[in-house]
Amino acid sequence: MTETAELQQMFREFAVTTAPRAPLYARLSAAIADDPEVAGLLAAAPPSQGIPVLLFAAVHDLVLRGHAPDLAAHYPNLTDTPAADDPWPAFRDLCHREGPTIRGLLATRHTQTNEIGRCALFLPAFGLVAAQTGHPITQVDVGTSAGLTLLWHRYGYEYEPGGAVGGPSPVVLPCSVRGAVPLPTAMPRHAPGIGLDLQPIDVTDADAVRWLEACCWPDQADRFHRLEAAVELARAAPPEIRQGDAVATVSAAVREAAAHGHPVVTTSWALSYLPEDGQRAFVAELDRVATEVDLSWVSVESPAQTPGLPIPSTAATEHLSVLALTTWRGGERRVHRLGTAHPHGYWLHWEAATGR
Ligand SMILES: C[S@@+](CC[C@H](N)C(=O)[O-])C[C@H]1O[C@@H](n2cnc3c(N)ncnc32)[C@H](O)[C@@H]1O
Repeated sequence: MTETAELQQMFREFAVTTAPRAPLYARLSAAIADDPEVAGLLAAAPPSQGIPVLLFAAVHDLVLRGHAPDLAAHYPNLTDTPAADDPWPAFRDLCHREGPTIRGLLATRHTQTNEIGRCALFLPAFGLVAAQTGHPITQVDVGTSAGLTLLWHRYGYEYEPGGAVGGPSPVVLPCSVRGAVPLPTAMPRHAPGIGLDLQPIDVTDADAVRWLEACCWPDQADRFHRLEAAVELARAAPPEIRQGDAVATVSAAVREAAAHGHPVVTTSWALSYLPEDGQRAFVAELDRVATEVDLSWVSVESPAQTPGLPIPSTAATEHLSVLALTTWRGGERRVHRLGTAHPHGYWLHWEAATGR
């Protein structure tokens, strides 16, 4: 198989796997699979990044810049009444017209996300920690991206069943719950948090934010709109974010956070980016700093991709997000598996009896 044929095959498979949840990308992907020239654009990406979503993000970026109104008319995140005719001719024409720009994006960018829906998973765990410690919580969000989950206390939540928590806010996060989730009745007390990331996104950088939004799938219009609204909130009062590696920087941030409240490290779909020994080193770092200060760690990670973490898993192949609370009190580590969740926080199945 030639490289282009391999890329075409990738798009063919992507069309099948995304069809149920992303009809626009599925239709386009099926057409790209039959067009060696458009599929071949992806050869400009480094091998580890050469996946269909990167090409879709590059094209979406141009659409968001206003370069293709005829294609924008098909994107459900950009119009309430998407055009019903075939989006492929407009997509193909844009790829032909702007091939060099698209290749440039593919060669230099990687897919990047910041999923604020995960705050609906953090919140019950934060409530437990605040109630248990009696102190305001100070979040240290590792792998924070644009830092949008640091703004959890500025969002509104709609649990079903359970009702509203927080708000009013321009960002409202729905979450279906099952089991005895201990939903807080009000926002847990908190002090300002700190975000850490190897490649943080600056919410005041228009290009970086547009790329973040371009990585959001147009078929998931609600995710796109709440991301836009969260970015606006962040721009009004940007969270504290530092550049650095998770293992190298987490201890200092925890010590700093401890001066303002109870440090709560959060990781959501971040530690899967570390190799297994890096995951172990991260936990060892928390063990080390816990000999100096009490802390908690709320994690939303996939066990299948984080074998180096001490989170109990029903199977090594568990691909769902597992919500866990790990506490260190007097240096003693205890791990509590709280439940499983949708990766974007749309549902939470609580498993723990009390969560403590
Ligand atoms: C999939 S994003 C998740 C972002 C955010 N936690 C969320 O839930 O939306 C993973 C983030 O981890 C960051 N990351 C990857 N490796 C890292 C490392 N070694 N140290 C710190 N951050 C890292 C990436 O830059 C990226 O922003």
